[in-house]
Amino acid sequence: MDFSIKTLDAKSASNTIKTGCLVVGVFENKKLSTAATALNKKGAIDAALKSGDMTGKAGSSLLLRGLADVAAERVLLLGLGDDPAKVSEKAFTAAVQVAARSLNGLGAGDVTLALPSVDGRDTAWTIRQTVIAFNEVVFRTDAHKSKKDTIPANVKKVSILVAANEAAAAKTALAQSIALVNGMELTKELGNTPANFCTPTHLANTAKKIATQFKMGVEILDRKQIQALKMNSFLSVSAGTDEPPKFIVLKHMGGKAKDAPVVLVGKGITFDSGGISLKAGPGMDEMKYDMGGAGSVLGTMRAIGEMKLKLNVIAVIPTCENMPSGRATRPGDIVTSMSGQTIEILNTDAEGRLILCDALTYAERFKPAAVIDVATLTGAIITSLGHHNTGLFTRHDAAHDKLADELLAAGKEANDTAWRLPIGELYNEQLKSNFADMANIGGPAAGSITAACFLERFTRKYTWVHLDIAGTSWKSGAAKGATGRPVPLLTTFLMNRAG
Ligand code: BES
Ligand code: MN
Ligand code: ZN
Repeated sequence: MDFSIKTLDAKSASNTIKTGCLVVGVFENKKLSTAATALNKKGAIDAALKSGDMTGKAGSSLLLRGLADVAAERVLLLGLGDDPAKVSEKAFTAAVQVAARSLNGLGAGDVTLALPSVDGRDTAWTIRQTVIAFNEVVFRTDAHKSKKDTIPANVKKVSILVAANEAAAAKTALAQSIALVNGMELTKELGNTPANFCTPTHLANTAKKIATQFKMGVEILDRKQIQALKMNSFLSVSAGTDEPPKFIVLKHMGGKAKDAPVVLVGKGITFDSGGISLKAGPGMDEMKYDMGGAGSVLGTMRAIGEMKLKLNVIAVIPTCENMPSGRATRPGDIVTSMSGQTIEILNTDAEGRLILCDALTYAERFKPAAVIDVATLTGAIITSLGHHNTGLFTRHDAAHDKLADELLAAGKEANDTAWRLPIGELYNEQLKSNFADMANIGGPAAGSITAACFLERFTRKYTWVHLDIAGTSWKSGAAKGATGRPVPLLTTFLMNRAG
């Protein structure tokens, strides 16, 4: 799909635009946007609204053809709610999703969007939401289908109409939006790819490709090098599988050489069977998504690489499989992490924290400005927050509150929201072990919080936030598939940091 920015010259109105389908906004109580008003010279839009065929509520739509004195072949009316002066974010995103879906079933090859601005958001924001919505509709993972899904995707060209004085900014925003969806698409593709293809080696090769394409530095450590670093906690998870583990370091040094980097740490379990603490059968296929943290970190790197973001960002990805076997780690085994802290592994299914803790210790060497770890860490976060919000955890002090607020705001801006939950001393007590410095589980109560408390013990040398994306990184059921989250949140956060 080919996106572009268009402007109208000062004398023209939307009725002069030649296009397969012109998309304009209308409102409840039969109110019209400026673009719709220009199409209404003969009263056709008024008549359509009066007929009751469309309410104007957010998400409602109506297709009209062959309007007199209108150059466009078709007009798609999109409902944007009740207040023309205050189009809400929610109404706008709902409307562009409807537009993307209905246009892909039509014969129009090129479409033009002439939509009003959104309350409190700039044109760059509306462009980003539009590009994401149109991309979502045509995305498929069908590499392993002998007969490809037929996507109606007739829409080849999408033009977004903006005011002339906004054209330059809109073009930059469009390029950034395309970079963002390319990153999201990589994340979705990696997530949907099954564990017999998406192995730690495949993730490492993907990192190498990103490095070549966007001129980044890359280092892939193999088992021997991981052993030399004394990452015994990470290696304990990999003990039961024949699939070789990898430790990926990908560096985008777009800022000044001396600027402290942001480090993104992604959980890369390419399949989580639970290990000896084997998971139940139903739905276990979805544990191919347990590399969603790694996938979203790689997607974010791809996005900022294409944007040539002026910021230093380093991705650190521990990746392996969690499988049972005669060589697998047993419940009760004790390991010494890279940090020197010992861990009693009471449940081999609490493996994410075991690979992340060594990666978090490794991150110290970069003297980071901030470290953000991203992980499909706990089923419990789905109980707490459902599939709407990513869980956000950090220490409760001024510096960490500030970083948390920065990320929460980026999530809101990107329509990829997170919600903060507490950590602290009382929860930490649940991790007490009789035989080691800590246990790797804290009992059934507050499972996501005790997991975050475990990670926190390995992050005391820098400012850190943990994102639990187990509820947001993929969908189950009929719509099973990776969502591309939290690439929008992370990318927006990094863009805002780059200024
Ligand atoms: N990858 C899972 C978390 C998960 C489970 C995500 C279900 C999405 C759906 C993680 O490694 C895990 O197994 N966590 C355990 C922790 C428990 C053993 C303390 C869990 O959530 O059950
Ligand atoms: Mn697990
Ligand atoms: Zn897991």
